[in-house]
Amino acid sequence: MAKTIAQGFFSDPRIEEAKKLIQAALKEHKSHITGIRGPNPELKESYDQLLKRVGEYRGGALFYNYLGSGIGNGPLVELADGSVKYDFITGIGVHYMGHSHEGVINATINGAISNTVMNGHLQQNTDSARLLELFSTAACKNGAGVKNVFLSTSGAMANENAFKLILQKKFPCARFFAFEKCFAGRTLGMAWVTDKAAYRAGLPKTLDVDYIPFYDANDHKGSIDRAVAAMKKYITRFPCQHAGFCMELIQGENGALVGNKEFFEALIAVCKEHNISVFADEVQSFARTNQLFTFQYFGLDKHVDVVAIGKNSQVCATFFTDDHKPKPGLISQTFTGASSQIAAAYYVVSEMITGGYFGENGKIDRLHARFTKNLEAISKKHESKLRGPYGIGGIVGMTVFGGDEAKTKAFTMKLFENGVLSFMAGGGTTTRVRFLLPVMVTEEKHIDEVCEILEKTLMSME
Ligand SMILES: Cc1ncc(COP(=O)(O)O)c(C=O)c1O
Repeated sequence: MAKTIAQGFFSDPRIEEAKKLIQAALKEHKSHITGIRGPNPELKESYDQLLKRVGEYRGGALFYNYLGSGIGNGPLVELADGSVKYDFITGIGVHYMGHSHEGVINATINGAISNTVMNGHLQQNTDSARLLELFSTAACKNGAGVKNVFLSTSGAMANENAFKLILQKKFPCARFFAFEKCFAGRTLGMAWVTDKAAYRAGLPKTLDVDYIPFYDANDHKGSIDRAVAAMKKYITRFPCQHAGFCMELIQGENGALVGNKEFFEALIAVCKEHNISVFADEVQSFARTNQLFTFQYFGLDKHVDVVAIGKNSQVCATFFTDDHKPKPGLISQTFTGASSQIAAAYYVVSEMITGGYFGENGKIDRLHARFTKNLEAISKKHESKLRGPYGIGGIVGMTVFGGDEAKTKAFTMKLFENGVLSFMAGGGTTTRVRFLLPVMVTEEKHIDEVCEILEKTLMSME
């Protein structure tokens, strides 16, 4: 078969040789990263100055004193002060494959040596085409209709596109349903979906959203009845005005709260009755349950009209059914992602699909069971200091010091100092600590070590 010049270039033995050399150097250097360690005193002064400058340039200090050096080894990451930490937050749920992963680096090199830095909707390379096919096939494997895929550069943008598709289809209906305390991103539109007043303080209103209480596992039937009643009440108050229902199926920013199939189905039934589009925002939960897509985990394949993914997928995307196709002009983007990012997304999602992570007792289930067992044991010993754990699969939450926000923040800071990266979720008196694991590279022994550090940190605080 005829070959393009590019195919000749990518398979040139010199390129293969160069990649082998890079891999050999990477293997050697990352092998020095074997466990957590404190900062190198000789780097301290320059690191502190760098942090200060970064804080000044960006108009506010960083949450953690974290500036990565550019190398890591699996779940371990080296910072520019020479310290090494466990990364159990992964850039808030992005680095599924940990740090300095050989396969990912190889894929990004392939993207990096292609002709352009970026792919966009006007000009994309064949890597984008095969990524679309991979995404669409995976999303529809159980008969879902969301076979159309638009790539984008952030979770918020994937959500914006989802809202636009629904609004255009349902015009002039323009109200949305969403869950209380959901998070949907930081654009002007998504600031009015995200149910947190501080995140939209001073911003003009862009969307009308009616909030439905989220699932309460302690009151299964009661929470279904309350949510359905709330939805019906709004439909009566604003007849024929709702365009869509934005469902964050697992609430990440609100503290790793997990929904329920029956709960979602009851609400979806009301939506279908009133011609309201069903949209699953799984930007944070994609690939974190024991199924690739969260709607697949909850068995909602036949119900979803629109789905957004991001973070772990490396390139964000909006999936939609044929009847949600936009009219020309509604959605596009100059960039859909960097060429290396698109190549990495194909590699990472292919690995997810074939690597034994999903299904009952797949790697995700096993990691979750180990983490949960360890945290329960700690909680039993220090009941007043730790409650939980919560979450599912690769998203784990816990409450420390009764959920007090300031104390939880102090705990995450101390945990950081002691060598583990986590993050906060929720807020006020229901603040939690959240972990988003680098699933591909985490082993049970890493979880054990992190839990030991966590317990010591907890013990050192009053
Ligand atoms: C559920 C959900 N939707 C949307 C977003 C926004 O994604 P991004 O920060 O990539 O814009 C997030 C980010 O945390 C999220 O958790």
